[in-house]
Amino acid sequence: MADKRLAVVTGAARGIGRAIVFELLRQGRIVAGLDIREDQLKELTQAVKEAGFEVLTRCVDITQTDRLTEVLESLAVEYGGIGILVNNAGITRDKLMIQMEDEDYDKVMSVNLRAAFTATRVAARSMIRNKFGRIVSISSVAGVMGQAGSANYAASKAGLIGMTKSIAREIGKKNITANCIAPGFIQTDMTAVLPDMVKKAAMEVIPVKRFGTVEDVARAVAFLSGDDAGYITGQVLCVDGGMAM
Ligand code: NAI
Repeated sequence: MADKRLAVVTGAARGIGRAIVFELLRQGRIVAGLDIREDQLKELTQAVKEAGFEVLTRCVDITQTDRLTEVLESLAVEYGGIGILVNNAGITRDKLMIQMEDEDYDKVMSVNLRAAFTATRVAARSMIRNKFGRIVSISSVAGVMGQAGSANYAASKAGLIGMTKSIAREIGKKNITANCIAPGFIQTDMTAVLPDMVKKAAMEVIPVKRFGTVEDVARAVAFLSGDDAGYITGQVLCVDGGMAM
């Protein structure tokens, strides 16, 4: 079913974001992918074309508030509003807390949390006007359970959960839902670099005994941003093989 509502995905060029773009396209959405990496956005455009779809892309560093606002506002004007926002872009700067610099903290917070706030604020204005919206933010089990070596990252991901619940309360009456997905260990570039010891220890605490796939997360995004999830808001859906229950 074709749906004229625009879906915006941040951090769309690779990993989970890229899988979300493909899944939403398969659902018949018009999708705009934002990312800081122009070369990888070009590759995405090509791969999407080869799969028989089309994607809009915008190269933007989402921590640049003015530029992000301008890009989202112009997309909203062009496409009659933003129907779906997926706050997916995220980074890590893992260190033991006592060695962590303010800069490590600020950088992670600015990409993972502040930019998600900015994007949500802009998108929500057009959602309120259109009396429809679905906001899905990619948190993490680290934000639910905490994670040694990731105090900055876990704080940003827990922050997304608090932000989401607040928005859900604020604008639910406008037919806008806001939810988080908290992935566990997913096979991506982000987890490929983990030492074998860490991967082995992770496997011990995952009841289904495998790392997730990017598609596992993308399908959950498609559900929460779709018509069947209109009565679900303010929730955290863990896509983690049972790790954080
Ligand atoms: P990734 O590193 O493969 O992809 C992240 C994308 O965000 C990249 O394309 C990157 O260029 C983009 N990005 C980074 N900073 C940006 C900026 N300032 N402006 C615009 N784009 C920017 O990461 P992955 O693994 O696909 O993760 C996606 C999301 O899922 C992140 O929020 C991550 O924290 C979260 N997550 C990932 C898990 C995993 O196991 N991979 C587990 C739990 C959560």
